[in-house]
Amino acid sequence: MAWEKNIGVDYHHFKTSYRTNLCGELDSKAIGNKVNICGWVNSRRDHGKLIFIDLRDFSGVIQLVFDPAHSQEAYMTAKKIRSEYVLKAEGIIDRRSSDTINPDIKTGEIEVAVENIQILGKSETPPFLLSETGKVDEMSRLKYRYMDLRTDKMQRNLRMRHAITSQTRNYLNQQGFLEIETPILAKSTPEGARDFLVPSRLNSGKFYALPQSPQLFKQILMFSGFDRVYQIARCFRDEDLRADRQPEFTQIDLEMTFVQMDDVLENIENMMAAIFKNVLGQELKTPFRRITWKQSMETYGSDKPDLRLDLPLKDISAIFADTSFNVFKKVLEKDGCIKSMVVEDGRAFTRKDLDQLIDIAKDSGAGGLVWARVEENEELRSPVTKFLSPAEISMLIEKLNLKPGNLLIIVADTFLVSCNSLGVIRKHLAKKLGLVKEGFEFVWVYDFPLFERDNRDNSITPMHHPFTQPEPGSRKLLDQDPLSVKSQAYDIVLNGQEIGGGSIRINDLELQKKIFEILGFDEQMIEKNFGFFIKAMEYGIPPHGGIALGLDRLVTIIAKMESIRDVIAFPKTQSAVCMLTDSPSEVTPQQLKEAHIDITKNE
Ligand code: AMO
Ligand code: AMP
Repeated sequence: MAWEKNIGVDYHHFKTSYRTNLCGELDSKAIGNKVNICGWVNSRRDHGKLIFIDLRDFSGVIQLVFDPAHSQEAYMTAKKIRSEYVLKAEGIIDRRSSDTINPDIKTGEIEVAVENIQILGKSETPPFLLSETGKVDEMSRLKYRYMDLRTDKMQRNLRMRHAITSQTRNYLNQQGFLEIETPILAKSTPEGARDFLVPSRLNSGKFYALPQSPQLFKQILMFSGFDRVYQIARCFRDEDLRADRQPEFTQIDLEMTFVQMDDVLENIENMMAAIFKNVLGQELKTPFRRITWKQSMETYGSDKPDLRLDLPLKDISAIFADTSFNVFKKVLEKDGCIKSMVVEDGRAFTRKDLDQLIDIAKDSGAGGLVWARVEENEELRSPVTKFLSPAEISMLIEKLNLKPGNLLIIVADTFLVSCNSLGVIRKHLAKKLGLVKEGFEFVWVYDFPLFERDNRDNSITPMHHPFTQPEPGSRKLLDQDPLSVKSQAYDIVLNGQEIGGGSIRINDLELQKKIFEILGFDEQMIEKNFGFFIKAMEYGIPPHGGIALGLDRLVTIIAKMESIRDVIAFPKTQSAVCMLTDSPSEVTPQQLKEAHIDITKNE
């Protein structure tokens, strides 16, 4: 694979005083050569007269053969060898007998006729077979991570991650970005999650916060004239975990001066193109598609649409303008909307499948869902047909171009709820019906609302973060109806996952203060949390903007993995525990005392 070459090393770099070659390096051209090879015992087969061992390192495996006629001593040692022992084998490369040739691997035609064997490290019986980690529960894989990381899958994933990071650095360095580190012992920046706190020994009762992102520091570097900076930045967020989230994760985080949205987007597109070309050997078509947040919600029911499938949502409110079907009528009276989706072939849907769709709609906040099947005689069959007028039915058939076999799904609710729940159903159906095409589909989503309402306490919160520039010319609207103001924020979405987000920042102190005010921050709170930042904004701030990409998510998708834990060497579990080291853990009373901490035990 291209990425193997692009980690910037070649086989000969691995020649050391222990070994002449790697396990996966040699082929029939090496027959007759004397070699020294080191690695782990992948498997051992005792055929009585001969013993075979597959020796493994990161590059692959090579077969060792022990023949007492060749070396009685090596043969006797081989009898004692077990899985995962570390060996150094000295011998001559030979051609395998024709019945043992393995055409699937590079070393498949050869073997090492061992003359000398040295056990460099013994192993207990491994906790699981490396060839069967697919069947091992993840907790064990994480507990014995050093074993799990020996598998081809994990070796490949972490090497790919390295290749992606190194291509990122190459690209950004070439574009004049500086890699500048910012503090890990930081002050909290509001990115929407809880902070991880670190008590200060030297400042009793005070805490650092681990950065949720380097947001304010990278902006300040723009204030200071560095023009463009980046970091492969570790970020910490104390939030509820899911498959695509970790409490500590890595961002490709960058900021640029004197830029508008297009400048940032173009840079990221070129960076992605460079990564895909050099890591996967694949050309990406740029520019990526760009759709507004509104279009995205309307058409795909999500602000992170998966464009690998074609299952659009359609608004059918107009058809029901005069409806007597109460469910639809009530929704339209309250300025809601009626959205639909048509599944091409819905013949196989059982009652249970349809009930499941209703449950999904309800779980996503909708009151319910209407389904209708188009019969062979082109009539609609649905539990609610009796409530619909003949005119409404024929408009549905005509406007949605319904054909026999189609399954029509309708949700009526507020704009957000009906789009959202159909969006969830769209994803569900894509998986269930196998509608997702292979490949990588990027899309930019922009024109996000600047604010949204937090359902928990009805407060106004930033959709991205409080430093995001509102759309041009929106000052008045900010006073009148802040929730309708759009922002200069953008997300990059790959295969239906948000892999990054950024914005053009506010570079005007008054406007920044106004935003804080709308968010309900009082003077004191602003001073306490952002005083340093506000102060910095008093001294000549250039227009600037940036973005951060979730490296873990990006690698997960490129490596075609399900969970970001599979592309992180030592990830945490869903309950934020490191199974390998058993952290978090208790500390000594002395440590607590020095940190000025009293623990009150939660019963
Ligand atoms: P945002 O909060 O959108 O933006 O984060 C950027 C990207 O980081 C990834 N990400 C995560 N990955 C794994 N685990 C998590 N817990 C997690 N949280 C976020 C996502 C996301 O798109 N300071 C801004 C960026 C900016 O404006 O420049 C920020 O952090 O892929
Ligand atoms: P009900 O009046 O609740 O018995 O609902 C009548 C039909 O409308 C049932 O098939 C419900 O599943 C469906 N329904 C209820 N609420 C909604 C909604 N918000 N959108 C679409 N269909 C709905």
